[in-house]
Amino acid sequence: MSNISQELAYTDEVAKATAPIYDILKDQYALSYWETIAPYIHEINKLKREKNAVILAHNYMTPDIFHGIADIVGDSLALARSAAKSDADIIVQCGVHFMAETSKALCMDKKVIIPDMKAGCSLAESITAKDVRLLREKYPGVPIITYVNTSAEVKAESDICCTSGNAVKIVNSMESDTVLMIPDKYLAQYTQGHTDKKVLTWEGSCEVHERFTPEDILKFRAKYEGVVVLAHPECPPEVLAEADYTGSTQDMINYVEGEKPDRVVLITECSMSDNIAAAHPEMELVRPCQMCPHMKRITLPKILEALKNESPEVILDPEIAEASRIPIQKMLDAS
Ligand code: 13P
Ligand code: SF4
Repeated sequence: MSNISQELAYTDEVAKATAPIYDILKDQYALSYWETIAPYIHEINKLKREKNAVILAHNYMTPDIFHGIADIVGDSLALARSAAKSDADIIVQCGVHFMAETSKALCMDKKVIIPDMKAGCSLAESITAKDVRLLREKYPGVPIITYVNTSAEVKAESDICCTSGNAVKIVNSMESDTVLMIPDKYLAQYTQGHTDKKVLTWEGSCEVHERFTPEDILKFRAKYEGVVVLAHPECPPEVLAEADYTGSTQDMINYVEGEKPDRVVLITECSMSDNIAAAHPEMELVRPCQMCPHMKRITLPKILEALKNESPEVILDPEIAEASRIPIQKMLDAS
């Protein structure tokens, strides 16, 4: 047996240390599978303490990450807030690249690592810094509100950032009667429905949320009597029109924890439902699966490797970091 497999065996020590986590996850994972992942959870939890690392995990992480190793979980806004406050030496970003860049811009003195550099986002891919400069020429004087699902270079060209959790509030806080909200056309359209300002937008969309249709929701309602439908504002407007509630991933969690519906369906990425189901076994979650392939690049073995090697590290050009930090910080101050 090599050192690594000895290290990752399901020993009595591992079983004892991870028992409280398995208690939460036992309905999600069969014991035989749990025995293959618990050694990673144990090893990561030991190593992060030794290295004074903090693990920030987005709500779309799989339950083993979300319930097993994360120190902070939340939506993009909550993770950015936590990064800004963190006193760890290392931030391990379990999410996608733009989230790691946001953490780095807010904490240039810390090492920010992401377990897979290829964890991207279709929204972040949809717009470049040059596009934003051209928009500024086309719409002089119109403030540019940039969704955090963008690169640091794009944020650096922007006036203020927003997330799905504060988009309406940020738009309403602007003095101008017209704003440009980039790059998610659906988030912009949703926001337009909740403000008197004119919201111009860009042709970007999330490859995961745009797959949902209103017919999906009608089918859930027909099959699961009384089901409460919660949807993410990255969904197309005709999908949101069929939902009972629209909000960020954290808003959805707050909704189910506050309202405690017996039956609920989340029109968003699949792991959200798995994480809520683990925490609330009394609730029935209808689980349609639209998976984000980028989020799913983050796995326990990659997290362990990244923590051991302190790599791949997110590096930002100091000028870009500073220029992108300003609109992010403005958003944090305004929300
Ligand atoms: P939240 O900020 O709502 O977590 O959304 C991030 C995201 O990427 C949704 O697809
Ligand atoms: Fe980007 Fe959509 Fe994946 Fe969120 S779910 S990270 S918006 S591709």
